[in-house]
Amino acid sequence: MNIKVVKDYGKVYDNYVMPKFEKGVVVYEDLEKEAKEILEATIKKENFTGKKGKTISCKVMHKGKLVNITYVGLGKEDELKPYEVIESFYKVLKSVKGDVLINKSSVKISYVVEAINYSQYKFDKYKTEKENKENEENKKEVSFDIFTKKDEDIKEGVVLSESVMITRDLINEPANVIYPETLAKETERLGKKYGFEVEVLDEEKIKELKMESFLAVGRAAEKRPKFIIMRHVGDKENKKDIYGLVGKGLTYDTGGLSLKPSTGMKDMKTDMGGAGTVIGTMCAIARMNLKKNVVAVIPACENSIGGNAYRPGDIIGSMAGKTIEVDNTDAEGRLTLIDGVHYIIKNEGVKEVIDVATLTGAVLVALGSTTTGVLSNNDDMYKQLENASEEIGERVWRLPNFPEYKELYKSKVADLKNSGGRYAGSITAGMFIGEFVGDTPWMHLDIAGTSATSKPYGYYEYGATGQCVRTLYNYYLNK
Ligand code: BES
Ligand code: MN
Ligand code: ZN
Repeated sequence: MNIKVVKDYGKVYDNYVMPKFEKGVVVYEDLEKEAKEILEATIKKENFTGKKGKTISCKVMHKGKLVNITYVGLGKEDELKPYEVIESFYKVLKSVKGDVLINKSSVKISYVVEAINYSQYKFDKYKTEKENKENEENKKEVSFDIFTKKDEDIKEGVVLSESVMITRDLINEPANVIYPETLAKETERLGKKYGFEVEVLDEEKIKELKMESFLAVGRAAEKRPKFIIMRHVGDKENKKDIYGLVGKGLTYDTGGLSLKPSTGMKDMKTDMGGAGTVIGTMCAIARMNLKKNVVAVIPACENSIGGNAYRPGDIIGSMAGKTIEVDNTDAEGRLTLIDGVHYIIKNEGVKEVIDVATLTGAVLVALGSTTTGVLSNNDDMYKQLENASEEIGERVWRLPNFPEYKELYKSKVADLKNSGGRYAGSITAGMFIGEFVGDTPWMHLDIAGTSATSKPYGYYEYGATGQCVRTLYNYYLNK
């Protein structure tokens, strides 16, 4: 998006957008007398006092041109939450046409920049005829100028929203475009562009590492598995402190031989939502040059069907050496993640690990489609996550990991089975992964409900939301 900083009102814009707090709304001084009167009348008529969620708009003549003036109500300054700034601007900016000047007043400019980018976000690259073609002749590209002091003011907002949109794009891409190999290629491209290291292990290497559980899931697919590793070394003096991230990277989930019904299967192109999230997070961390060491891994594969597929009833191994009875081939995410967490703890030496996954339909039953379900073996980690999520309004909620639940995924013939049945489905799925982290502080984010949406809400369009990128970025920033 075309966003730039301006330090004087050099030109006349099509739109002027101004945030207003609820403390005596003052009319924009620079206007001519008649325009001021119209604006004042509108404020009076609409009884606009700057309340949160309320906006007013009017057309006035300004320096010989008909311009649109919009006031965005933000409520009381000390009660305003950062994500409410994004939401308020998002609503207004979604429908603007032409060029826009935003006068920042006292809101943090990076949130406004985020709102701009999210308001213009569309995944329409496959439409050969773009929408809104009406006034083709006088159609003007929408562009945004922000009146503020320093160019750096917009940097954080640009980086974070672009990272979120990278995640959204990756998730929105269909499975015939994004499969393990292309996901790895795209990660390599982003690593080069934004300055983090990327290493991709192919099947032979994955076999050498004995990731038998991960390999079982990807066995039937024509698209072969890849294991993607990303490293950001921001704190070179302290190489021992490394934080680990693991993303579920099912580029498609048919359910395997425990085949999914067609309803819902088509959404399973989003089953690499965890992978998309950790890639976006690494982009943000690297571009903001966080003084932290973070390693992220993605066991990427496709859960498909075929004569070579793993079967319900099979007993498989894992990199950690534990054996698993395959109860249901549709409970595949956890089988890929256990090798991911074991690898990152043992081979990368991380001191804590977070896995992010579109893991269970059950999390939608428990928490709905706007809250991420969390499990953790460490209270401090969860507290830090909660704090990190508040600024940006991404909802998280912790589920219990009481030991009684372990009964549900005990197997008669192997160390564990990969499904705990219908009851407490999100808990047993998360705890299954927890069985492979030993004493390492660990947290599991089930984003099956939140990573994509079937209808727009907040500052999200239809499709991928990019949720948790901002929260995880904050989490590492505050470490
Ligand atoms: N990828 C799905 C979970 C999912 C469901 C993500 C809906 C996004 C939206 C996962 O692999 C899965 O199939 N889980 C099963 C587990 C069951 C077989 C124990 C589920 O939730 O039904
Ligand atoms: Mn599945
Ligand atoms: Zn899945």
